Amino acid sequence: MTLELAIILPTLNERENLAPLVERIEQALGAEGWEVLVVDDNSADGTAEEARRLAREDGRVRVIHRIGRRGLASAAIEGFCATAAPFVAVMDADHQHDPALLVAMLEAVRSGEADVAVASRFADGASTKDWANPGREKLSGVANRLARKLTGVDLTDPMSGYFLLRTQTALALVPRLSGIGFKILLDLLATADTPLRVREVPMQFAARRSGESKLDRAIAVDFLAGLYDKSFGRIIPTRFALFGTVGALGVGVHLAILYLCLLAAGAQFAWSQAIATLGAMTFNFWLNNFLTYRDRRLKTASKLLRGWASFVVACTVGALANVAVASLLYARGLHSLLAALVGIAIGSVWNYALSSRFVWGR
Ligand code: GDD
Ligand code: MN
Repeated sequence: MTLELAIILPTLNERENLAPLVERIEQALGAEGWEVLVVDDNSADGTAEEARRLAREDGRVRVIHRIGRRGLASAAIEGFCATAAPFVAVMDADHQHDPALLVAMLEAVRSGEADVAVASRFADGASTKDWANPGREKLSGVANRLARKLTGVDLTDPMSGYFLLRTQTALALVPRLSGIGFKILLDLLATADTPLRVREVPMQFAARRSGESKLDRAIAVDFLAGLYDKSFGRIIPTRFALFGTVGALGVGVHLAILYLCLLAAGAQFAWSQAIATLGAMTFNFWLNNFLTYRDRRLKTASKLLRGWASFVVACTVGALANVAVASLLYARGLHSLLAALVGIAIGSVWNYALSSRFVWGR
């Protein structure tokens, strides 16, 4: 039998789940005609090592070990590009998705009945067990409605992480996918010029077998960033837009601290200004680390300290560029307000470029 189906398993700390899942896939699909592609983002628990061990034992298992990259969507894309199988499925590695559905999903697409088969948590006959947190189910409903409005794609579970399609269908869309976040299916459906015909298969969304969800905390931010990226990302890149928003909030923090120092503490203006500047920089560093660079977040105390120090240096360089450019333009006769705005724009680009490279770079 020839290779028919590749099952992509994006993994982040799923070591214990892998071997039993491969076994369940074999039970569902039989011995031949499939391969499993583990796309691991350098999990700390040694998932990649475990995948290599399985691959040595069983030639149907393959490993893509990514270092310095993050993201469920980009892991799936990596899988699309790495297989020779004509059909490809994406599935969670934590046993929440039942491999037994693969047979029906493959048949729906192979027969030409549909372009994409989607396992749905919300179609008639489906069920969801164990939402990792209570707000999540509600959020999921809101997100689904929003997604349907914005993409015109009409299905009950556009955020499902379990779907199957022809590899060539996926590959044709890959150059135009945003690759951000987790909603790869939605991205595929929204990007296709001629609407893809979808066949939904109801699923019993099981409880995670071992380990914990990685999407819980980041999910809302990722979702909004993804929507922004799809709509305006070509005009102003998502990351820069976030950086700019954080910067604007920082101005508010600066003014608040300044006010407190001057009025409440009765400090001198120069001192107050210095404290406010440092406070605003610290606030911006924290929020950028949390939001703008959430995929490269600095975590240990020493990395945070070093990151903060380089952020302060980067911002100082940006501020100098700001003042220099603005003064130059003002001296050349530009209106003071306009000169200041250009200065701020140049300074922000400097801050952004330097911190992308030196604070959150690798
Ligand atoms: N390579 C890689 N990189 N894999 C990742 C990453 C990542 O950054 N983040 C998560 N994964 C893997 C997990 O290891 C797991 O196999 C799968 O992607 C799903 O992650 P979970 O952390 O288990 O997600 P969930 O159960 O909270 O979310 C479910 O609902 C989402 C929609 O609400 C999943 O079914 C998602 O696929 C789905 O999009
Ligand atoms: Mn899960």
